[in-house]
Amino acid sequence: MSGRFITFEGGEGTGKSTQVKLLAEYLKGKKVDVVLTKEPGGTPIGQELRSMLCTGDKDKFDAVAEALLYYADRRIHMQQKVLPALEKGSWVISDRFADSTMAYQYYGYNKRVSKQMLDELYKMTVGDFYPDLTIILDIDPEIGLARSMAVNSTYAVQETRHESRGIEFHQNLRKGFLEIAKTSDRYVVVDANKTIEDLHANIVKLVEERLF
Ligand code: TMP
Repeated sequence: MSGRFITFEGGEGTGKSTQVKLLAEYLKGKKVDVVLTKEPGGTPIGQELRSMLCTGDKDKFDAVAEALLYYADRRIHMQQKVLPALEKGSWVISDRFADSTMAYQYYGYNKRVSKQMLDELYKMTVGDFYPDLTIILDIDPEIGLARSMAVNSTYAVQETRHESRGIEFHQNLRKGFLEIAKTSDRYVVVDANKTIEDLHANIVKLVEERLF
């Protein structure tokens, strides 16, 4: 596999979606063939799962069911989009990947899901395969949630199922991402409380250092 796999992670309202687009444009400018995608919802079936997962009552199913559905989305995403693109030599940038499941469903819910179950699901659905680089955008959840709710209020469909959980959930998952970041040097934590331009410049610098 000759492509590169870059994942972006973080809590709500970190500016991930803007930054993935800016990075994709930057790489295209360098003649890199880029596939920009996301989880959940990187495939047509994934879009249906995304609607189930991200809209409606926050308690309509529990953390275990959520983890299984996110992994179903991931399996389909890997098979139908990520692996074929990497095999063609493209660089794949994904707005969220498996670290989100560990951060949200394990740390966010205060470890109500077994970590071992999530590790097993990873092995079953993704295998012995990891992103080349994972950029974790870090922000105080009070600031991130306010940003996220403001953006969501401009959309026809409210994808606020997770946003509507209490602040403690979001603080837990932020700490979770910081814990996860210590486990491998493929992670880089970036302070997201910056202007769009400054954050993009930071990201470009680290992609240049790590992947070129
Ligand atoms: P988004 O905000 O990046 O569009 O992601 C959709 C929501 O899904 C967001 O609230 C985070 C959540 N999520 C999980 O809880 N677990 C996961 O594994 C993934 C990929 C996303």
